[in-house]
Amino acid sequence: MGMLDGKFAFVTAAGGGIAGAIARRFGAEGAAVCCVDVVEETVSKTASDIEAAGGKAIARICDVSDEAAVKRTIDEVAAAFGKLNVVVNAAAASEPLHTVATMPLEIWQEVLDVNLTGMFLVAKHAIPHMQAAGGGQFINISSTFGTVAWPNRPAYMATKGAVRQLTRSIALDFARDNIRANSILPGAIETNRLLARTPTMDLVREKMVPLHPIGRLGQPEDIANAAAFLASDQSSFMTGSDVLVDGGFTMI
Ligand SMILES: NC(=O)c1ccc[n+]([C@@H]2O[C@H](COP(=O)([O-])OP(=O)(O)OC[C@H]3O[C@@H](n4cnc5c(N)ncnc54)[C@H](O)[C@@H]3O)[C@@H](O)[C@H]2O)c1
Repeated sequence: MGMLDGKFAFVTAAGGGIAGAIARRFGAEGAAVCCVDVVEETVSKTASDIEAAGGKAIARICDVSDEAAVKRTIDEVAAAFGKLNVVVNAAAASEPLHTVATMPLEIWQEVLDVNLTGMFLVAKHAIPHMQAAGGGQFINISSTFGTVAWPNRPAYMATKGAVRQLTRSIALDFARDNIRANSILPGAIETNRLLARTPTMDLVREKMVPLHPIGRLGQPEDIANAAAFLASDQSSFMTGSDVLVDGGFTMI
């Protein structure tokens, strides 16, 4: 018996490293999973991996910052599966480094649109389906950079801090509907995102491992473990929490 038997989960950025691992883990725990991304090849691969492992999955292309597409996709898949129980919000833009003094407005806006407004839109259109299902769980992916500072990431940091408060807002407003919302703050996790600014993972490790007292970078599966717990009834008294999965990065 899986931790998520009988649940239907909607996972954004499921073509990526962290949400891909979450989607696969949810599938292995018995959930049917709608894998959502803007990149067809990677999101289809996640869904086919889940099916190959004996799970149930579909893939959908949807830009989380496009309200019409978000509503259409959520309504369609919730109708097809007859419910919506779990939402993982993990989509994030990969922006170039700037201070506020040099960041073009369009880059600032794109980061806000994807990382924050996208989360709002998915929540807005998922909540009616969760209410109809008698409750649900949101797992919103923030970052350690939502609580500590890092150079040249003003838009990313602003959105990741805001994700924590948006999560608490959802948690408070819908607690009586049996809807829970928690955020996860990952430390450095080995995904392609880290290669956007450093050419090899060895160089990333050289720079980042010393900042993580546990002595290694995180793996996507470390975040999937926390997400499976938060999506399951084992975390039934947790809502509005910031869950640090950071190898101790923020404690020093
Ligand atoms: N990797 C890390 O070290 C790390 C650390 C802290 C937080 N995070 C957060 O974890 C989440 C996942 O990151 P990752 O490392 O797996 O990155 P990733 O680059 O592997 O995956 C990100 C995915 O998001 C998708 N995406 C981008 N814009 C989208 C949009 N508008 N609509 C739908 N999908 C979109 C991309 O196509 C990609 O598949 C992000 O929110 C990121 O901020 C990552």
